[in-house]
This record gives sequence, C-alpha cells and structure tokens, in this order.
Amino acid sequence: MSEVKLFSGEKLPLEMHKVRVVQKLNLLPVESRQKAMAAAGNNTFLLRNEDVFLDMLTDSGVNAMSDQAVAAMMVADDSYAGSATYYRLESKICELFGTQYFLPAHQGRACESILAETFVKPGNVVPMNFHFTTAKAHITRVGGRVEELVSDAGLIPESDLPFKGNIDLDKLRECIARNGSENIAFVRIEAGTNLIGGQPVSLENMTQTAQIARENGIPVVLDASLLQDNLHFIKTREAACKGMTIREITRAVCANADIIYFSARKLGFARGGGIAMNNREYYERMKGLIPLFEGFLTYGGMSVREMEAMTVGLEETMDETVISQGPQFIEFMATELQKRGVPVVTPAGGLGCHINARKFLSHVDAHEYPAAALASAVYIAGGVRGMERETLSEQREPDGTEPIASMELLRLALPRRVFTMSQVLYAVDRIGWLYENRHLIGGLNFVEEPATLRFFFGRLEPIGDWQEQLVAKFRKDIGDSL
Ligand SMILES: Cc1ncc(COP(=O)(O)O)c(C=O)c1O
Repeated sequence: MSEVKLFSGEKLPLEMHKVRVVQKLNLLPVESRQKAMAAAGNNTFLLRNEDVFLDMLTDSGVNAMSDQAVAAMMVADDSYAGSATYYRLESKICELFGTQYFLPAHQGRACESILAETFVKPGNVVPMNFHFTTAKAHITRVGGRVEELVSDAGLIPESDLPFKGNIDLDKLRECIARNGSENIAFVRIEAGTNLIGGQPVSLENMTQTAQIARENGIPVVLDASLLQDNLHFIKTREAACKGMTIREITRAVCANADIIYFSARKLGFARGGGIAMNNREYYERMKGLIPLFEGFLTYGGMSVREMEAMTVGLEETMDETVISQGPQFIEFMATELQKRGVPVVTPAGGLGCHINARKFLSHVDAHEYPAAALASAVYIAGGVRGMERETLSEQREPDGTEPIASMELLRLALPRRVFTMSQVLYAVDRIGWLYENRHLIGGLNFVEEPATLRFFFGRLEPIGDWQEQLVAKFRKDIGDSL
C-alpha cells in the first residue's frame, strides 16, 4: 500500500513521485475570466488553455508521464510496417490481458467505431452498465440502441456502496428475454463507469454478467479505458480480491471479456488505443477496418513514440503505488469539499471529483443545464476548468425532445500525478466560496446547438446577468486577489 499514516492522524494523500519537468500556469483576474468564458460560449471545451489555471477538464491524454515512459519514446521504431515498437506493445498487452490478438487504433472512440461497424446491425440493442458519449454515438450512428442496466443504487449520487458501476443482473436477464439474444450485438461493461462519477464495477459482477451473456451466446465487450482506477478499487474494496496482485486482478477481469478495448489516453499514460481479443474470427472481422480508417496494422494511427510510452505506462499500471495516486487525491478533494457542505458523488470514484450540480444548483431548471452553468461559474470563480457531464452531454431523441440525464454532474478531473495538494486546496476554496454564493448562479441557454456530441462545440449564453453579479461578489469578498 502507498498510503502513509501520519502521526497527527490526519489522512493525506502523499505524492509517491517528484516533479522533474514543469509547465508554467497563468491565473487571469476574475474580470478577464468572465470575458474568456463569454468568448468560449460558456463551454469549457472552447476555452483557450492559456486562459486556464487548473485544467480539470479531463484525464484524457493529459496524465503525467514517467521518466521511463518519456525515455522509451526515444527508441521508437518508426517503420510503417512491421515496427518493433508495435511488437513490444502487442506483447505487453497480450501478457497483461491474457489475449492473443491486438488491433491498434488512434484512440478509444476509433475502437468504438470499429466495434459498432462490425457487430451492430440496425435495430440491434447493446446493453451496458451505463453509456459513454462516444460509445453511444457510434452505436446509434449504425442504427443500434443502448439500454442502460446499472443498478438503481448506482444512480444515487451520495451513498456508501463500493461498486456503483455494477450491472443489475435481473435487468440484464430481462433485457435479453425481452429483446431476444439474436438482437443483442454485445454486452458492454464500462469499468470504471465514467458518466456516473467514475464508479467501479466489481470483479464478481463482471464474472456474473459474463456468465449470463455466455449462456445466451452474446459476446462481452469490456471498455477498459478507466480500468486503472477500477483495478485499484477492486483491490481495496472487494474482499475476495485483497490477496491478489494487480496483475492477477487484471487477468481475472479480462478473462470475462471476449473483446477488450481501451483509450490509452487514459489507460497507459499515453495517447492511443486498441482492441484485444482471443477470438480469431472477431479479429479477422475487424482487421480490415484498421488500415481503412486508422493506419497500417502495426501502428493504427498512433505515433510510434506514444506506443513505446504506452508499453511502459501499461506495465506501470500494474504498480499499486502508481495507480492509487489518482483515487487517493480524488477522495481527498471530495472530502475537503464535503467539509464545506458541497454535495459530491460518494464514495469518491476514479478519474475526477464529481460535484452533484442538481443539488448544488437546485434552483436552476434541468433544461437550463445546471452542471454546465456550474462549470462556467467555477471557471469564473477560480480559473478552474471542469466539464459538464450529463443533460448537455446527452443527445436529443430523434423527435427533438431533450432527455434529462439521470444525474447532473460537474466533473473536476484529476489527471494522474499532475496537480499538487495546494492546487487541489485552492480549487476547493473557490468552489466552497461559490457554494456560499450559489443563489447568484443562474442557468444557460443554447445559442448554437450542434446535432451530435453537442457538448464539444455548442455555444451557450447566461440567462440574465448572474455572471456580472458573481464577479462583483468575488471582488467584495476576496478583494484584489487573482
Ligand atoms: C469510458 C470511456 N470510454 C471511451 C472513451 C473514448 O476514448 P477517447 O477519448 O480516447 O476517444 C472515453 C474517453 O473519455 C471513456 O472515458
């Protein structure tokens, strides 16, 4: 275990690494932050990073790399075909996952596109614990449909359940019986589960899910993008796995899946992705799409330097000290926010600290995007860039109605090993101040609304002058501070 107990009894996450390369940050005055937010159409994706102090937008492709991973980039073999770099990566993935075949792809959504093209027919259903934006968009693009089977308890923001990403097995049986197994393309398990707060799935639940799927002749697809945190949670929260190494847990998890795909922007501390499997027929069916959409079979659209770093990063993922850093910092941030009364998702999950925006801004109508409004307010209050996760991230139904998401969260990602404790405490301070002044925050309206993945580049405006009022209150309470 990497947790160090202090004599004072205080619980602090301790950085088990030292900083050797740094990037200078800017913190603009609050008035300039308001202007920058307006110029970005109240969409944190559209901010320029030079205007951001703490970039907690995502953990994707922005995790700190180790000296060993950076060093490995220098020995990459950049041959178009047959690169030694590819064979090193393939062999590491097959060793860790216990698979025989690997298809490289440029990132997670490319894997999702290939899986949807290959397995999903119009009218098919893909049951899953919970959707991820790009996974759902690719399934619906080819005429399929998603059914979410996460247990009801997983959707209660504040609880003490250790595995809120678990599939409800009764719902799975009912879904198969109602749709017929011949209409189910595959069962998708997302471990950890991004949009409900980075919540983990237990090994036991994955095993039971796989058993039901296999009894019905349905393939199981594991989205392992957030597996790093999930491995840590299995090790620390699942009694039956306490004595297992991370390597053994990884093998046991992967044994439940017929196909494993991942975004290496998350898993492996690099940028890329891929699909691993044992079934030769699945491999052959997907193989042809790689050179068509990604790149030749030995790089799949990735830079060979990233592939070398990924090989090292995947091995580092087997080190409990390395993978516990993220969850420990997230738990610390969530606990500090709770001390200030801020409603957060509990237990703290992986990838980031999640604020329950529906409760934080209970006076803001669901169609006025509370989580997006809170993201805008958090940037104005502290130069901290978070990401709306829910209603705005949903797609409209074919008839144009807007579904209200089951949860309304503001995610403050903690890219792994990037931020220091004082930076986390600064963000907590500004969010605590906002919570005291939450009555000032209003909603947002779309000015430009794209048809798909609207959260990426849609533009919004504040309803009323709440942002001006927020800036005035900041000056009143915090004086001439940045
Ligand atoms: C669970 C999950 N699956 C898939 C993806 C898509 O991966 P990428 O961003 O590399 O396309 C993500 C990205 O955030 C994710 O969190």
